[in-house]
Amino acid sequence: MRVIIEPDYAALSKWAAKYVADRIVTFNPTEDKPFVLGCPTGSSPIGLYKELIEMNKQGIISFRNVITFNMDEYVNLPEDHPESYHSFMWNNFFSHIDIKPENVHILNGNAPDLIAECDNYERLISEAGGIDLFLGGIGPDGHIAFNEPGSSLSSRTRIKTLTTDTIHANSRFFNGDLNLVPKQALTVGIGTIMDAKEVLLVCSGHNKARALKHCIDGDISHKWTSSMLQMHPHAIVVCDEAACDELTVGTYKYYLDKERGNL
Ligand code: GLP
Repeated sequence: MRVIIEPDYAALSKWAAKYVADRIVTFNPTEDKPFVLGCPTGSSPIGLYKELIEMNKQGIISFRNVITFNMDEYVNLPEDHPESYHSFMWNNFFSHIDIKPENVHILNGNAPDLIAECDNYERLISEAGGIDLFLGGIGPDGHIAFNEPGSSLSSRTRIKTLTTDTIHANSRFFNGDLNLVPKQALTVGIGTIMDAKEVLLVCSGHNKARALKHCIDGDISHKWTSSMLQMHPHAIVVCDEAACDELTVGTYKYYLDKERGNL
């Protein structure tokens, strides 16, 4: 695992955006050979999306031959609800870049058959050739996508019931009203994320310090599902100083020195 420690949120967003842009440019995607990008929601990736939008406007990168698959979506929340992940993605990213709408994939949490929806999503990902780079955030309880503590570490796309922790954390988007937060979501599984050729997580702020510690500095456990990334051959976590508050000094220094070229 590679861990990049940046001073703050602005710097980590820039680092992550530059990494994504480099990957897409190097891949040189065409209509026949598109780049497949996995996308998260939440506050963590907003800075990264802003940077990518800017690079797209400046002509540094194009999303014309990029296919996206989002990580998750709430169940039973209308697609046009301002807090649906459909709304989030179009408002914060897709509407501002040159992506083709038909290349965007987001799970439908209102599908008549949710299990079939999840199975079909897995099929679409594999028909697209798999995910080249899966971007992600991390929940305060260490989850990625909506793979809550206790999720199988080999899980595929499916329905998950949200934990009380996550309902509390996400109530900030629903006027602080726990009753308004959907109780279930469709989410790609840990196995789905592990199949991606590369995974890049962004993690910012002191409230993520415990999650980051368990993700990179603890044992692999289904209680902290992002810790499974320790098994991925090409996983990167980009974090800021505030998120490092609970790392051991040795771990913190090792990753800083490694990136500075002192090791
Ligand atoms: C939600 C999303 C996750 C996201 C997490 C953290 O639970 N399903 O994909 O990583 O929130 O969100 P934030 O970045 O807002 O802290």
